[in-house]
Amino acid sequence: MASFLSLLFFAVVFSVSLFLLRRSRYRRLRLPPGSLGLPFIGETLQLISAYKTENPEPFIDKRMNRYGPIFTTHVFGEPTVFSADPETNRFILLNEGKLFDCSYPGSISNLLGKHSLLLMKGSLHKRMHSLTMSFANSTIIKDHLLVDIDRLIRLNLDSWTDRVLLMEEAKKITFELTMKQLMSADPGEWTESLRKEYVMVIEGFFTLPLTFFSATYRRAIRARTKVAEALTLVVRERRNDDRPRSDMLGALMASGDNFSDEVIVDFMIALLVAGYETTSTIMTLAVKFLTETPLALAQLKEEHDQIRANKGHSEAAVEWCDYKSMAFTQCVVNETLRVANIISGIFRRTMTDINIKGYTIPKGWKVFASFRAVHMNPEHFKDARTFNPWRWQNNSEAANPGILYSPFGGGPRLCPGYELARVVLSVFLHRLITRFSWEPAEEDKLVFFPTTRTQKRYPIIVNRRERGPTRS
Ligand code: HEM
Repeated sequence: MASFLSLLFFAVVFSVSLFLLRRSRYRRLRLPPGSLGLPFIGETLQLISAYKTENPEPFIDKRMNRYGPIFTTHVFGEPTVFSADPETNRFILLNEGKLFDCSYPGSISNLLGKHSLLLMKGSLHKRMHSLTMSFANSTIIKDHLLVDIDRLIRLNLDSWTDRVLLMEEAKKITFELTMKQLMSADPGEWTESLRKEYVMVIEGFFTLPLTFFSATYRRAIRARTKVAEALTLVVRERRNDDRPRSDMLGALMASGDNFSDEVIVDFMIALLVAGYETTSTIMTLAVKFLTETPLALAQLKEEHDQIRANKGHSEAAVEWCDYKSMAFTQCVVNETLRVANIISGIFRRTMTDINIKGYTIPKGWKVFASFRAVHMNPEHFKDARTFNPWRWQNNSEAANPGILYSPFGGGPRLCPGYELARVVLSVFLHRLITRFSWEPAEEDKLVFFPTTRTQKRYPIIVNRRERGPTRS
């Protein structure tokens, strides 16, 4: 008993001394202003409780007003520098791999797979990232992907009658599209059963990542194994099949890099994960914002009815030139991405002491570059918290959009799906608007805080438009 007590005593003394030592080092450095909150817990509880309310913005607003756009906090067990400063965010993004490293908890790696692009670093990351960019660039979308995007969206919308759970439908569309693009898999029983497993994997990202405590996490790990097994079979079959394929799997195998089955499977899972919640949420929110902004909806309707009328046939395929003619749609896409901010920012870890804007961020600290805080700042965007697609019409709002506007990140980890996501959303809006009118169902209205995950499904009541638009 006595030895246990002395051990406990030394452990406490050691932890407290470490804590004080760190504090005194931090005091010597010129850290960004802010508060580290309570020992160990920091300000995590304040952050969590802010995101449980209807308006989470004050957590950031309050600190920005008090300390400025770069401040120190302590969340999820670590001191973290929060940046709402556009130039600092840019600096963080561009110095990925040199001064900052991406940093995800181990629990994420269990679900994504250790070869996932999101976790890769160094030269392999560079190679995989540029391959991924080449799979989803505008030429590939124009020549190969657009026809499937349009076809699969139409196919899904064909079955819509009366009450539709928009978020669910958007997720189904997104998954089917990704499966088609990745491995030429058409929707069917196999893709649907894979989707069910996959949904369980996704649940794992939003739960306590402890196998012992969380049944959801355990289920997610089991589902991940099943998804990986199913995809491994596809890869093996493909290795014995000489027919040329114009999908991402085909391109990956033909790249001459000799990737192992495991690398390819992790790559595919990463693409499924990265594009799923993001694209489907943005599809749902665009409809929500448009529903709440009738003038924008009317202008969009006019644009799409005109495109349809010019084509003469309501089922004619959407072509690249149609997409390029959707000028106001692009304003809606920009604005939805600005206001919705599915990925509100990115975490990185400092690889060395970083001096920035007169402050020092110590080596090993986490930094959070918040895109959302910039997008929501009235100093950068007039009436920043209002959905206003017209602000993009002559782009006068953001004099330097590369710095002020970054929904897809930037630098070496710029989202490889940025063009794809825009095209999917534009074609989806085109088909939705030219086929249906809609109103939100009374119950279960979408309450959405873009930085937290919503379980809401945004039901809408759809009505088929009587006659398709005619030539004007
Ligand atoms: C509205 C939709 C989307 C948004 C807002 C979005 C946003 C982002 C952001 C901000 C990053 C940077 C993460 C970081 O720097 O750590 C990123 C990375 C990534 N995105 Fe997207 N994304 C979207 C859709 C897609 C789609 C459709 C794909 C599929 C091709 C995709 C694939 C990826 C991948 C693989 C990465 C990791 C890149 C890397 O770490 O090198 N995303 N995305």
